[in-house]
Amino acid sequence: MRVLGIETSCDETAVAVVDMDVGQNEPRILAQQVYSQVKEHAPYGGVVPEIASRAHLERLPILYQQTLTEAGLALADIHGIAATRGPGLVGSLMVGLTFAKSLAAASGKPFVGVDHLHGHALTARLAPGVEFPYVLLLVSGGHCQLELVESATAITLLGQTRDDAVGECFDKAAKLLELSPASGASIEKLAASGDAARFILPLPMNDGSLDFSFSGLKTAVRQRMADVQTEQDKADMCAALQAVIGKILAKKLGLALQKTGVKTAVAAGGVAANGLVRALLEKVCSEHGAQFVAPPLNLCTDNAAMIAYAGGLRLLRGESDELDITAYARRT
Ligand code: KG4
Ligand code: ZN
Repeated sequence: MRVLGIETSCDETAVAVVDMDVGQNEPRILAQQVYSQVKEHAPYGGVVPEIASRAHLERLPILYQQTLTEAGLALADIHGIAATRGPGLVGSLMVGLTFAKSLAAASGKPFVGVDHLHGHALTARLAPGVEFPYVLLLVSGGHCQLELVESATAITLLGQTRDDAVGECFDKAAKLLELSPASGASIEKLAASGDAARFILPLPMNDGSLDFSFSGLKTAVRQRMADVQTEQDKADMCAALQAVIGKILAKKLGLALQKTGVKTAVAAGGVAANGLVRALLEKVCSEHGAQFVAPPLNLCTDNAAMIAYAGGLRLLRGESDELDITAYARRT
């Protein structure tokens, strides 16, 4: 079964084709295209919803054609169409959802709407050898949460951020530090020449819960800005921020492994690209006798393969959605 996936929940336009079963229940990505709108939003220092919707509208038909060409397939070779329903920017979601519904209506193929977070949660299964159950730490610009993933349908939320997402904290700190682009990757780069012990930042929500909080950390950085003048000061602040974030993520992942007794941990989302974060997560997993898996980077960040795969699992179970389902900004 070949499934076309479409992802337009935020500032990445993405299309992919996934073959759900190339033997022994192993899925394979046949083609995938991602267009990042970083340039469109850069002048505004953050994602502008209206600009995101327009960029999706312009790019999606092009990416769709490119993806089919890359896979060497026509729409007639596709068995089902999946698109992200939410959570995300509603205007952006509607572009992808409407495109997918139109393809389904015109071709008579089944259609499924996919929850973006389920997509992230199941991504690890696209990497070889990851079996259920696992604890998922999803750390991105829009999300920060721990989930227990026992099967494609049994996904339990263990804890989540009470305010900002962890990537948002990186991005806002990068903006305060006037880094360009204002992202976690810029912080990581500069942190390499910084001294993490120079600035003492608070360890947020350092309790026994599995919840997170990052808005206080962002404020702590702002309050120390008077001491950040030179490039070295900036590098030291980057190193301090990265260290404290890595430490709290690792601590909470360790707690989740302890509470669930699960022996596999998966990290996903853009922040999982951070080298120090990965190293600290790996360390805490080995302390708990657990296997640590970080899917390849292009599957950690927003992509359409995860949507095709999560949608494909529903199609394989004989499920599909009506063409009148709507997009949602948040889970209710
Ligand atoms: O998963 P993603 O591409 O999109 C969302 O669903 O949000 O994650 C993007 C987030 C941004 O906040 C970005 O600053 C952060 O991931 N990020 C990083 C790194 N690379 C991307 N944060 C820390 N270190 C990195 N190397
Ligand atoms: Zn995401």
